[in-house]
Formats: sequence, C-alpha cells, structure tokens
Amino acid sequence: MNTQAAAHAPSSGWLERLFAWRDRLIASDAFRRRAAAFPLTRPLARKAARDLFDLCAGFVYSQILLACVRLDVFRLLADGPLALATLAQRTGLDDDAAERLARAGVALGLLAWRGEQRVGLGQLGAAMVGNEALKAMVEHHALLYADLEDPVALLRGQAGATRLSSYWPYAADRARAGVAAGHALEYSKLMSASQPLIAEELLDAYPLKRHARLLDIGGGEGRFAIAAARRHPHLQVSVFDLPAVAERARAQFAAQGIADRASAHGGNFFTDPLPGGADVVSLIRVMFDHDDASVLAILANVRALLPATGTLVIAEPMAATRGALPMGDAYFGFYLLAMGRGRSRTAEELRALLQRAGFSRVQQVSTRMPLQTGILIANP
Ligand SMILES: C[S@@+](CC[C@H](N)C(=O)[O-])C[C@H]1O[C@@H](n2cnc3c(N)ncnc32)[C@H](O)[C@@H]1O
Repeated sequence: MNTQAAAHAPSSGWLERLFAWRDRLIASDAFRRRAAAFPLTRPLARKAARDLFDLCAGFVYSQILLACVRLDVFRLLADGPLALATLAQRTGLDDDAAERLARAGVALGLLAWRGEQRVGLGQLGAAMVGNEALKAMVEHHALLYADLEDPVALLRGQAGATRLSSYWPYAADRARAGVAAGHALEYSKLMSASQPLIAEELLDAYPLKRHARLLDIGGGEGRFAIAAARRHPHLQVSVFDLPAVAERARAQFAAQGIADRASAHGGNFFTDPLPGGADVVSLIRVMFDHDDASVLAILANVRALLPATGTLVIAEPMAATRGALPMGDAYFGFYLLAMGRGRSRTAEELRALLQRAGFSRVQQVSTRMPLQTGILIANP
C-alpha cells in the first residue's frame, strides 16, 4: 500500500468496525429494500442506486457525447433550437436516429427540449460550444476507450501495445526520446488546444510580473510561453522540448510576432543540457508523464539551472484533489496506465520529490478550477 492509500485507511479499531457494519448493511437485500421504502432514507437509497447506475453506464454517456461532437450538434444548435427534422437533415441522420440522439442528449443535460419536436442546447451542451479543448479531448478518448476494453489485462501488464503508448511516443524510452515530426504534430496539437485554460488559470494564480526570463520545459508548441509573453510585455520567454516540438514552438513565436523575445530549444531533458539564464522555470503537465526516478532527474537538472533567487512552477492535475477525486485518481490513474508510464501525484508527493531534489521552500497556490490544474511554487 502506498503512503497515500495508507493515509486514507481507517485509523482506529472502532472506525473499522463501523465501516464493516455499514458495508454489511448496504450489502443486504433486505436493508436496501427497507431503505428504499422508508420515506426518510428513500432519497439516499435512490441517489446511491443512481450513482451506481452512472458508473455502470458512464461509457455509454461518453459515446453519446462523442456522437454529438462528431456530428457537430452543439455548433448546429448554437444559434438557437432546431426542429428535429432539421437536425436530422443537417446531421445526415434519419428522423428516428436524430430523435434517439436528441432524447439521449436531453437525458444527459447536453440538450434540452424547446417545444414540440424542437431541441436546443442544454447547460452542458452550451458549455461545449466553441470549446475546442474539450472537443479535441472527446475525440482523443476514442483511443483510450479502445485501450480500456480489458482493464484487468491492462492492470496486469498483459494488454500488449496500447494505442496511447503509440500516441505518446516519448513515454516509451526516456534515453531515446526521439519523436518523429508527424507524431509530435498530433499530440502537440492536442496539448495546444487544451493549454489556454491552464495558462490563464496559472497566470492568474501566479503572475510572472516580478520575473525577467521564463523557461517552459516540456513547453510543447509554446502556448504557455506565448500567453505569458502577452500578459507580461517585459518578459523574455523560451521553450525547451524535443527537437520536432521545439521547431513548432519556434514557428508559433514567429507567427505571433514575438520572435524577438521568444526562443525555442530542442533537446532531451534527460540527456541534454537545459538553456541557462531563466529566473523562473515552468513544468506544466510534464511530471505526471514520468516515474519518480525520472521526475527526480528532471527536478535536479532544474535545481542546478536556477539561481538561488529563482522559482520553479509546477502545474498539472493532482491526485487527491478535494472535489476532483475522480479526475486525479480514477481518470489519470488509468489514462497513464494505458499510456505506459507516469502517475498523477498528490501535492504532498510532489512536495517530497521537490525537497529531495533540493528545493527547500514549496508552496501550494490555490486555483479556481483544481479539476484543470493544481499549482506548486518551489524555491531553492
Ligand atoms: C503532456 S505534454 C505537455 C505540453 C505542455 N507543457 C502543455 O501543458 O501543453 C509533455 C511535453 O513534454 C515533452 N517531452 C517529453 N519527454 C521529453 C524529453 N525527454 N525531453 C524534452 N521534452 C520532452 C513532450 O514533447 C511534450 O511536449
């Protein structure tokens, strides 16, 4: 059992007996029938049944969302509700299929009825309009969906080559993290699409105004560096990433007209020297891709690079996040398992690794959306 799991285990004998008694009750058919019949416990019994059903059926809900994304339903409804017949014609479905999809979407809160045979956006569907990050993620999940077909084989390490391990080629071998340009293009586009949400969140939570030079390690196509440079016109920014990715960052800097204060460096952060001169370094969604030994190696390199007054910013979704437990522990737990490397860590686990790498002050900064990212600020 790891330390995190141990911290959550019942700590005393009486608590353990209480949980055992509760579990026996819930497992009993007679108790569940009585709980559902008794007016005071009925809402709880219904909620528990609904939660369990949602766990059983969640994969169906995800595929309904995928159908809406692939058929562009949210954009079609963005200007207002449509008659079912019009929706059918615009999506290329027959009338029955369009109605089936509409009913499913309404049941999930993605769509809403707006009169007889007319459907519009529901609250969740409205949030999907123009949300390229989420749409790209929903599409990307087709790979994960296939990889999770036999979750037990995956847990036992018997699933063979997964789709996600081909999608993220650098996950396979840290010494030879060479990535062909085509592969880099595919995953870098996905990362870029989802980066703006994290960039703004991070720049609001930890403004970089007191810093002069930012180095974003594993910075992808440079979306965070560009957002930081836009927010702070005095800031020099640079990205270090695998050569094929750094090349894409360089092109982005030129396209954004900031090439005079932005640079991109290609290399492998395990084997090549990192560019010096930065007083703030960021590692955004990088740590969770790697095992502890690799994380320690990266952190030690960053520590060696930073001046005594320098700052390291780590931003990524973190495990055991209050209100977002399924994200860190269930979703990323299995996503990274399918990818073949890495794990999501609690803020405490990251803090311990930072301290082992020589960072003495580590502070957690709160974010508006911990579901998207947690943030740690570390100083030598
Ligand atoms: C999950 S992506 C995150 C990208 C970006 N920071 C973001 O949040 O959008 C991880 C990044 O680390 C880079 N990377 C992985 N292994 C690397 C290595 N050994 N050396 C340099 N960069 C690496 C990948 O190319 C990729 O751009």
